[in-house]
Amino acid sequence: MQPSVDAIEAERFRQFIMGVTDYAIYMLSPQGVVITWNAGAQRFKGYHPDEIIGQHFSIFYTDEDRANVRPAKALAVARASGKFEDEGWRVRKDGSRFWANVVIDPIVNPEGELLGFAKVTRDITERRVAAEQLERAREQLFQSQKLEALGKLTGGIAHDFNNLLSVIMNGLELLRMARDPAIVSRSIDTMSRAAQRGAALTQQLLAFARQQPLLLAPHDAAQVIRSFETVLHRALPDAMRLHLRLDDGLPPALLDPTQFESALLNLVVNARDAMDGCGDVHLGLSAVTLADGEVARLPAGRYVRIDVRDGGMGMTPDTMARAIEPFFTTKEVGKGTGLGLSQVYGLMQQCDGALTLASRVGEGSTVSLYFPALAASLPPA
Ligand SMILES: Nc1ncnc2c1ncn2[C@@H]1O[C@H](COP(=O)(O)OP(=O)(O)OP(=O)(O)O)[C@@H](O)[C@H]1O
Ligand SMILES: [Mg+2]
Repeated sequence: MQPSVDAIEAERFRQFIMGVTDYAIYMLSPQGVVITWNAGAQRFKGYHPDEIIGQHFSIFYTDEDRANVRPAKALAVARASGKFEDEGWRVRKDGSRFWANVVIDPIVNPEGELLGFAKVTRDITERRVAAEQLERAREQLFQSQKLEALGKLTGGIAHDFNNLLSVIMNGLELLRMARDPAIVSRSIDTMSRAAQRGAALTQQLLAFARQQPLLLAPHDAAQVIRSFETVLHRALPDAMRLHLRLDDGLPPALLDPTQFESALLNLVVNARDAMDGCGDVHLGLSAVTLADGEVARLPAGRYVRIDVRDGGMGMTPDTMARAIEPFFTTKEVGKGTGLGLSQVYGLMQQCDGALTLASRVGEGSTVSLYFPALAASLPPA
């Protein structure tokens, strides 16, 4: 009798499956016993069809997986949900492991009776190894960047503290010998400035290391600035002036006053350093309504904006691009740690606000901080 067209097709298809070498494709009985075995299965798992047909497929699993009855669970899931898919370690005949992508489909007849399972396995060890290598490389890069940052930090800070300590030691030496009250008072001043700078530096480091949590609440920014004004004035030498232009009747802004003050001080000190010991620093406060994405990634809404503007040396585009990086500084060793702007930037992120820089070499810089504004009628939180 001639075989039917269907039977010929089925045989061709069977041969096609049996010849596939990139995938292990085989069938399991309803109980999980291997009943067919293609070339790919032989290639990946190392068993000849004679050795494996008739064995239970749990032989491909690791001991841990077998102890956790994962083979039986896989069949149960495939049976219940119509498909089982998984990635995991599987074991070759020689005991070596490979990382497999596994799909199990139940095969049922039209009456819904389970005939067995079709199982397709791919060896994706290479892909996994490549992904792991990439991950390791990334991790190493991250570590080395951290180390580099730490190196810069310790170097810069050791210098800073050395300078401050030598100022204090020289001052003490002077005090030991000086009889002139003018000299005594001047060296006490110098020493106390050095000690203050040391304390500020430690504060900055602590804040940086601890990433202090914020106490965000609605505040009148103008009032916070006014109460901090004297400190800001004191940060500037005599020949420099600080001008405040604070709009009245601004909506309350969501901020942490202490952190806000330290941000202002950072910006004013940067303005001071950008100028040659004389000139004006302008501090402006106003409310603005922004469209979505008009400033950085801020959503549309009302914001309270603080501008700190100086007529100093300005920044090159390169400097401006890196200014907020932690430890980026163009100041000489001992003059700057490069943490000021990065701290202010971090603060603005935490406040759901933004920091923007505008600058031209030789014409000065403006740093703007945007704090989310609250409707004026809201009671303080
Ligand atoms: N107002 C400004 N004018 C010109 N350059 C500025 C100004 N503000 C910041 N920069 C540049 O950005 C760099 C980084 O500033 P940042 O405040 O983070 O660190 P720093 O002032 O160098 O050190 P630190 O603030 O830690 O003492 C500065 O070294 C400077 O090159
Ligand atoms: Mg600074």
